[in-house]
Amino acid sequence: MIVAIDGPAASGKGTLGKRLAAHLRLAHLDTGLLYRAVAHRLLAAGGTLDDEAVAAEAARNLDIRTLDPEALRGPGMGEGASVIAALPAVRAALVELQRDFANQPGGAVLDGRDIGTVICPDAHVKVFVTASAEERARRRHGEFLGRGESVTYEEVLADIRARDARDTARATAPLRPAEDACLLDTTELDIEAAFRAALAIVEAAG
Ligand code: C5P
Repeated sequence: MIVAIDGPAASGKGTLGKRLAAHLRLAHLDTGLLYRAVAHRLLAAGGTLDDEAVAAEAARNLDIRTLDPEALRGPGMGEGASVIAALPAVRAALVELQRDFANQPGGAVLDGRDIGTVICPDAHVKVFVTASAEERARRRHGEFLGRGESVTYEEVLADIRARDARDTARATAPLRPAEDACLLDTTELDIEAAFRAALAIVEAAG
């Protein structure tokens, strides 16, 4: 069983992916961490985000066992991730790793932007999670404050809008629902209600 969850920044797909995976006893991969890790490596090495060959090499050298979610989820990292995520060679370098994860015995839940369209077009279940930009910014801002980061709601909203625009407009694997994806708008739903709705979609798919 492969469950593909896609959607824009802070739509709730990560939390849903994690909870669905735990409930269904499947492995879970937050694929945004891969792009964040590539951007983080380049910046930590004093480099820029615009050298496609260097970025692709960093992507090829990624080891998913060493990803540190805490370090990668800070403000600013999402923006850097979306810059290198638009580079076709970076995306190509990460395809096999994601497909291997998806095809492990027992199955998996993957969340990202192109899981249902590019990485796992034959996934058994595809959910496309959305929410208004304002509601997503409100949630993400709350997360940052909870972690002691100093950032304003307006900055978070601007980051989310910029990322939405970049992720949707890029030529390679743009953010969009697969034709056979079920849409789940979480604007008015709390985590529990969103989880129940997502689980109902999975169960309906058999
Ligand atoms: O999901 P998250 O916000 O952590 O993703 C960070 C960035 O990585 C996104 O804005 C997007 O540009 C990129 N990404 C992607 N494809 C994925 C997952 C993330 O392009 N499957």
